[in-house]
Amino acid sequence: MTTAVFPGSFDPMTWGHVDIATRARSMFSKVVIAVAHNSTKTPLLDLETRVALAKRATQPLDGVEVVPVEGLLVDFCKGIGAGVIVKGLRGGADYDYERPMALMNRSLTGIETVFITGDNALSHVASSLVRDVARHGGSIGRYVPDGVVDAVAAALAAERAR
Ligand code: PNS
Repeated sequence: MTTAVFPGSFDPMTWGHVDIATRARSMFSKVVIAVAHNSTKTPLLDLETRVALAKRATQPLDGVEVVPVEGLLVDFCKGIGAGVIVKGLRGGADYDYERPMALMNRSLTGIETVFITGDNALSHVASSLVRDVARHGGSIGRYVPDGVVDAVAAALAAERAR
């Protein structure tokens, strides 16, 4: 009975994230999607919206839950008794980005990170690209679950109005 934590900014949730959550759930008895703060990024969507969209997208997945996380990820993992962190890899650049975080998290508490190879058909789908396509007027509907298109449009409209 291992609980896995799948952390990220999820800004916004994409079908790539849903794919990784589904694959993780096939390996672990419970998957907790931890919507966390990345101090190197300013999110487009607020935390509440990112959590709501992730919950809606994974609602059909049994054994998958979504929670907001403040503070250190490893402290959250310890607090819920999670045995492993899972992250998705689309390619080598993802590994280069993820490796220091996996090493730091293991150095902090000993928790291991398991990397899951995502669906090749989704390897071009990244939250950053989805935001950029939407920001420049492109259609993002095929890359994201229900509710995300409208939430991203509303956040971009609010951004332009500021
Ligand atoms: O989707 P992202 O932005 O690549 O996810 C990065 C995230 C949110 C998982 C990472 O920044 C994180 O774990 N943030 C929580 C604070 C923390 O534990 N920082 C130390 C990371 S080694």
